Amino acid sequence: MQTSQGNGRDAWATRAGFVLAAVGSAVGLGNMWRFSYVAAEGGGAAFVLLYLGFVAFIGMPIMTSELVVGRMTQVSPVQAVKQLGGPAWGPLGVLFAFCGFGILSYYSVIAGWTMRYSLDALRGAIPADPTGAANYFGSVGTGMPAIITHVLFMVLTILIVVRGIKKGLERAAVILMPLLFFILVGLALWATTLSGGGAGYAYYLKPQFGELFDPTIITDAAGQAFFSLSLGMGAIMTYASYLKTKTNLAKETVTIAVSDFGVAFIAGLFVFPIIFHFGIEDAIGLGGAIADNTVGTLFIAIPPALLSLPIGQWIVAAFFVMLFFAALTSAISLLEVVVTAVIDSWGWERRKAAMVFGAGILLAGIPSAFNLNFLDFADKLVGNLFLILGGLLISILVGYRARDRADAELAQGLPNANLRQAWAGFVRYVAPPVLLVVFFFTIPKVWTVFKTLVGMN
Ligand code: PHE
Repeated sequence: MQTSQGNGRDAWATRAGFVLAAVGSAVGLGNMWRFSYVAAEGGGAAFVLLYLGFVAFIGMPIMTSELVVGRMTQVSPVQAVKQLGGPAWGPLGVLFAFCGFGILSYYSVIAGWTMRYSLDALRGAIPADPTGAANYFGSVGTGMPAIITHVLFMVLTILIVVRGIKKGLERAAVILMPLLFFILVGLALWATTLSGGGAGYAYYLKPQFGELFDPTIITDAAGQAFFSLSLGMGAIMTYASYLKTKTNLAKETVTIAVSDFGVAFIAGLFVFPIIFHFGIEDAIGLGGAIADNTVGTLFIAIPPALLSLPIGQWIVAAFFVMLFFAALTSAISLLEVVVTAVIDSWGWERRKAAMVFGAGILLAGIPSAFNLNFLDFADKLVGNLFLILGGLLISILVGYRARDRADAELAQGLPNANLRQAWAGFVRYVAPPVLLVVFFFTIPKVWTVFKTLVGMN
């Protein structure tokens, strides 16, 4: 089944394998954990609308750009940006690897929660009442319990990356992604039966138009689009560098982006009715002020809701197991960026690169496991600000510096010159100015979280 390129790098066995792995990277904790808490912070529907706009008009053109660069260069992102832009672009590659490192450090802590929740649901150890569930999250979300699950999750991620991307990953993604989708649709349908859910739908779907111009909500939506689509740090680029077939990259972009948005949107269709049905708005900070445990929104809201069902325990377990797998396929792509960079730049063996850097990430995640404010800060700095910066630089590199080569690469698979021109228009004229503004408006947000972290607020 597996093929290898002449230069000994990995290559996808099938086109579907590539697409599903890319969807696997995109669909993860970002779609459920991060989407529900950022949407809750951002006032619901206005955020969702802006988020959709960023996915369509900025995220998709940048995703095509990353796919083009990866497939064209067939090397790690760190080398790719130098190859295209010249030595001056080297630091962008370093930024990519840094983002992979930084995001995975706290991502793994949250993924660890999903492991803990899966096991405890099976043991019947998660409290069914909302207050109890909030306290339970408080006790397993930080400190020693969180460190243990974080370590377990990292070890698992490292083991898979040591084996190479396609063994296991390609096959697992083909089965798990569709399964996750079915569970989510089932939950969304069930949520329509909840009393009091109407307020949840209104919150989620009926925008307050004033909020559409709120800079905080705009920047949140932009950051969420990049995080959820795995953009701005070379993850999609890395996967595309293992791609040999000259398929239509615009089509792959649509598939990945629509699946990713679809999963997040459906998640919102049950998270918000559940929150309002159980009246736990305050516990998760919907009341206005950002509560300490906003980052725990999903983990506090889901168990009491599902445990109210006859076989609730099993549904909770199934939900968190699926979330765990979704997180795993994303974590693999995060580590993969760091590992390919080290293999290509320093000539290390895959095994050594994955173990040494995986261990580094494991250690770097410990502060997040101890302190949710630190986790929040890392997420805003690396998972938001730096991804926007990465996206901005990618759009300049592809839109200006390597314009003709990029167009020629996209043309293989997409002969329609009008479509390519539309794409180039977004990459050159829309993404750079918008992302520049978003970048500067995101800085104060990161600063606020930083002040909370160091106790200056
Ligand atoms: N997109 C992933 C998610 O939504 C997270 C991720 C970000 C993965 C950046 C790779 C790169 O969970």
